[in-house]
Amino acid sequence: MDSVAEVKSRLSIVDVVSQYCQLKKAGRNFKACCPFHSEKTPSFIVSPERQFAWCYGCQNGGDIFKIVQLLEGVDFKESLKILAEKAGVELPQNFGGGIKKEKKEKLIEVNEAATKFFEAELKKNSEAKKYLESRGVKSAAIEKWRIGFASDSFDSLHPELEEKFPKKEIVEAGVAGLKEFGSEQLFDKFRNRIIFPIEDHRGRVVAFTGRVLDSSEPKYLNSAESPIFTKGAILFGFSRAREAMRESKFAVLVEGQLDVISADQARFENVVASSGTALTEMHLKALKNLVERVVFCFDSDSAGVDSTRRALEIAAALDLDARVAILPEGVKDPDEAIQKDPQIFEAAIADAVSPLEFFFQRVFAKSDFSEVAAKKKAVRDLLVFAAQISSAVEREDFLKKIGLKLGVSEAALSEEFQNLSAVSAPRKIQEEKEPEIHPEKIAATDLLAGLILAFPQIAGEISELKNLKIESEIWQKLKAADFHEISDVGEAGEKLAVLASDKYSDFGDAKIKTEILKLIGNLEKKSLVERKHELKLAMQKAEETGDEKKAAELFEEYQKLLAK
Ligand code: UTP
Ligand code: MN
Repeated sequence: MDSVAEVKSRLSIVDVVSQYCQLKKAGRNFKACCPFHSEKTPSFIVSPERQFAWCYGCQNGGDIFKIVQLLEGVDFKESLKILAEKAGVELPQNFGGGIKKEKKEKLIEVNEAATKFFEAELKKNSEAKKYLESRGVKSAAIEKWRIGFASDSFDSLHPELEEKFPKKEIVEAGVAGLKEFGSEQLFDKFRNRIIFPIEDHRGRVVAFTGRVLDSSEPKYLNSAESPIFTKGAILFGFSRAREAMRESKFAVLVEGQLDVISADQARFENVVASSGTALTEMHLKALKNLVERVVFCFDSDSAGVDSTRRALEIAAALDLDARVAILPEGVKDPDEAIQKDPQIFEAAIADAVSPLEFFFQRVFAKSDFSEVAAKKKAVRDLLVFAAQISSAVEREDFLKKIGLKLGVSEAALSEEFQNLSAVSAPRKIQEEKEPEIHPEKIAATDLLAGLILAFPQIAGEISELKNLKIESEIWQKLKAADFHEISDVGEAGEKLAVLASDKYSDFGDAKIKTEILKLIGNLEKKSLVERKHELKLAMQKAEETGDEKKAAELFEEYQKLLAK
């Protein structure tokens, strides 16, 4: 067996796809909101029987390799590498050899070498080790998160890297700079800092953030953005939290690296951080494919409250269920809560409140609503948020609750809301595409072909299929295989099979047989109608040209058809 076939035989499409989105069982298939486009009703179907996944909304999908290519943005070779590793299949030694490595991969190699260097440096520096100890970071966590140290020197890391990599790549990877413009001399960017590697969503180090050991500024220094590092797209800890997020069906979002690491040490494994940058739509979209709910647990200072507000707006626009975990008075951030007592954090997550509650508890905590002006401002602020809620049902529910809380009539609220929505349009989020092919709208011939492909053992028993005249490529293939199982039906065939198996996912064999017969009946009827129409036209023509013999023949055939 070749590597591709071996990988295919060892991995199930369900396991592969479920790394990227949350699958729900739907009869013999699984369904999910499409990982390729934004949608609210699932049109992404995964068929374990066919080892094929397809979104009939955006017309994207394929087998395990295609899925990985699409979702990781890699070519076939790379997808094979990723899946071979997952399957424990060893690829031939020369695999990928000789091909020029992508630039991105080279930059990742530089970062990987730097990570190893920093890890080794930490082992040698007792002050740095002591600092981490004082922050409650245990050695297991140091190892797991690959925490390192950059010594207090301009020329420590780069000379090592220069032995293996060109200067240009070292600079581009973001770990060193050029001493002077036009010079060839490098200097280390990270100095005298604890180093936290930042991994992309596949777990490869793409950047670093370094924290000072004292109170100097800046507290954290980050790698610059590079071809492999986009701040707004990467969540710290994502690849490590993936399984836990998927299993628990929710993700906890915090601000800092140390919040994630502390949480992880206390076995809260579904925690990721936006690493100090403002949360983006991209961040939340990555989570939306995986979880049903996000819980924001940002710092309790006013900046944290502002970030939470913004995060709630993005979540609402993406129609992602969001909650806010509120830490007790005097607790600065999740890290502090956990160091004090993990139960504080656990309780905050368990008691996380709805956006509305959050607004009342935090944003309006100090307002006295007996003042009309304060009430008006609160209503305005809440309505601004309401305008971002993309689900009409939820928006209405939210407005109702505001009314009850503030003692404002629904009529007044909705008037105010109308005025406001005229000026503040909802955040622009990619519109949900209407499925282009809805299963209901497939041509009957395609549906029939799909059913035969999806249920060959049933189709094989139906002799009526042989008499059907259908002119499509897939039908010719099916006919050639005598409507028995055929191994290679191409993407078009897989698509039809998955659609048909989805449409009839809760039908038993007998019902499927009936459905096939019904479709055959309809198609026969249709072709009968068409033939009759043809005959009528031909008869007319024969009469016009005075070909009486032909006209009589045609009439006879027509009579026969009428009797059917
Ligand atoms: P915080 O200042 O809240 O850091 O910034 P923290 O996690 O509580 O850090 P400790 O506990 O004092 O060590 C939150 C996150 O914002 C980013 C970092 O990613 C940090 O984890 N940040 C912060 C920066 O990028 N630069 C800074 O100067 C400060
Ligand atoms: Mn913090």
